[in-house]
Order: sequence, then C-alpha cells, then structure tokens
Amino acid sequence: MACFHRLALRYTTLLLSFMTILLLFTQNSPLVESDDPFDDLIFQPTCSCRTCVMGFLDDDWFIYRYNPTIPALLNRKNSKLHKNTYKWWRGLQPSRLRVNYTEVVDQLFSLFPDEDHYSDAGPDRCRTCAVVGNSANLLRSNYGPLIDYHDIVIRINKGPTQGFEKDVGTKTTHRILYPESAVDLENSTHLVLFPFKIRDMQWLISTFTTRHITRTYIRVKSSIIANENKVMILHPEFIKYAYDKWMQNHGRYPSTGFITVLLALHICDQVNVFGFGASSTGTWHHYFDKTRTHFKGGPHGGDFENVTLHKLQHRNKITMYKGF
Ligand SMILES: *[C@@H]1O[C@H](CO)[C@@H](O)[C@H](O)[C@H]1NC(C)=O
Ligand SMILES: *[C@@H]1O[C@H](CO)[C@@H](O)[C@H](O)[C@H]1NC(C)=O
Ligand SMILES: *[C@@H]1O[C@H](CO)[C@@H](O)[C@H](O)[C@H]1NC(C)=O
Repeated sequence: MACFHRLALRYTTLLLSFMTILLLFTQNSPLVESDDPFDDLIFQPTCSCRTCVMGFLDDDWFIYRYNPTIPALLNRKNSKLHKNTYKWWRGLQPSRLRVNYTEVVDQLFSLFPDEDHYSDAGPDRCRTCAVVGNSANLLRSNYGPLIDYHDIVIRINKGPTQGFEKDVGTKTTHRILYPESAVDLENSTHLVLFPFKIRDMQWLISTFTTRHITRTYIRVKSSIIANENKVMILHPEFIKYAYDKWMQNHGRYPSTGFITVLLALHICDQVNVFGFGASSTGTWHHYFDKTRTHFKGGPHGGDFENVTLHKLQHRNKITMYKGF
C-alpha cells in the first residue's frame, strides 16, 4: 500500500486516469510476482496442492493458533513432557495408579515403530486428507467415492464402513482409538491412539502382549486385531496445545473429533472434513446407530469447537462437507 500511495501521488498530477490506477492495483496483486522479498516469503507455495494448510501466511488468526513445531505424534526422542503439560494431562481422567511415564514410553517404542512421522512437508508434497466423523448427516450423502479419493482417510472410534460404503467410503488409512472405543482394524490401517491418560498407553501395550488390562474407568476390550507395525500415538503435548491454543481453554479438554481435525492440519496439506455436526433434521446421532451424541454436554466446549471449525472453513484451512 505504501508503494501504491507513493506511486499514486506521483501520477495524479500527470494523469489521473482510471486505467493507471487499475494497472497499479494489478501490480500489487498477490498473484503477480513481486520484487519485495517479504512478499515472496508470504506467497511462496508451501505444498503442491491447489490450496495448502500453510498456504498464505498472512492470516494472523491462524498464525496465532497454528504452531507447526508442536509434535503431533509421539516417539522416543520427542517424548519428554513439560512439567505443566504432564500435570494437566494426568488430571484429564485421573487415576490413583502410580505409573512411571518414562518407563511406559520405553515399552511403547520397544513394541511399536519409533519414527518421526510425516516430517516431510515441502513445496513438492500434496497430501490430501479426509477426516470422517460419525454424524448421521453422512447418510444418503453419496460421499463414499469422494472420501476414498483422499491420500489419507482418518476415521474416528467405531465408525464402520461395512454397509455404509456409498456414503462413507471403503478406505481407512488411520483410525483414532482409545481403550473405551476400541474396535478391530484392517491390517492396512494405522491405529492412532489418543491417550487421555497414561493407562491408555499401558492398555495399548497390554493388548499386544499380556492382555491383562480389562478395565479403565469402564470395562474395555483386552485385545484387538490390528497391525502392530502401524501403531501411532498422539503426543500428549498436542492435546494440551489443542486446548490452550485452539480452544482457548474452553471446556475441560477438546473432543476427539476436534483434535482429529487439528491433527490433520498438522500432517496434511489439504483437509476435508465429513460427518461433523447435526443431520439436516437437527438430530445428533451416529450414522451407524441411534446413539445420541452430545453437542454441548460432556467435558468439551462444543460451541467453541463449532465456532473454531467454522472459522477454519471460512479461512480456507478446511472444507466441511455438510452431508444430507
Ligand atoms: C522412572 O523410570 C526411570 C527409568 O527407569 C528412572 O530413571 C526414573 O527415576 C523414574 N522416575 C520416577 C519418578 O520414579
Ligand atoms: C499385516 O501386515 C504386515 C506388514 O505390515 C505383515 O507382516 C503381516 O503378515 C500382515 N498380517 C496379516 C494378517 O495379513
Ligand atoms: C456452528 O457455528 C456456525 C457458525 O458460527 C453456526 O451457523 C451454527 O449454527 C453452529 N452450530 C450449532 C449447532 O450451534
């Protein structure tokens, strides 16, 4: 704009024609190569998709919240927790059991892949992700082929594909689970544990080894079928980040669905969201059963999550498919 003013002043005396101003506007447009190195930084594509999560870094609202240095998935090397994260995390679903976190992490990565997952972002990558929630608005949506077209398809908890292929697709590259929502997985699917407590990590170890853990705060499956070489674990630091930065500490902790969308924003270049929200008739239940789901109830700040997801959509960071 400063440049525009300077040039505009110089030109007004000469020739204040509509065409000149139009031309100057074109030169200042972000779509045209600019000589200003700062502009180059802002408008450099960060991925090779048509739009990128990290696309235009000129969005203060997004930049304030989005921290690409927060680890999304746990490994041995990044496993150390900040003291206050540890304290907060241990308070989410408290238990009197005394457990040594370091030892649990050690056991986890002697069983499961100890990798630096998805650290391959760059201008040549275009990873598209579909986050598939469990809302009844998927029924009669015919989204199946569209969902399957994504590189990564993340499903949440029990959300099945069998019998619902037309509306939800057939592909599941990742399934978000915790002990209380556990189901069997296909061999090609990544199990992604969301640990809301240290017991969840112990349960994961137990299901692939001794199978001795049969309860958390309720009775849980002591074993599941899943590919042990594809297990991933959400970083507890990421849950705290979702709560502090994205929820602005509304509710007690963020919902699984909300964290999953944020996870996708961190490991994907383009994020499309399906099966969130109410159905067209205003009911809140799963597409696969009649279980009522909560919007404002429970420990999660449903209103705030909803507003934040809509803001992400408005800023072209996600696209929400509303279904039927
Ligand atoms: C947890 O275990 C590690 C390794 O076995 C040990 O060095 C550490 O002192 C233990 N921490 C606590 C609080 O017991
Ligand atoms: C599952 O995939 C792994 C490779 O990740 C393979 O070693 C294993 O045999 C497969 N198991 C089944 C039941 O197909
Ligand atoms: C979610 O937020 C959007 C936009 O702010 C609003 O239009 C919609 O009614 C909200 N949904 C619910 C269930 O409150």
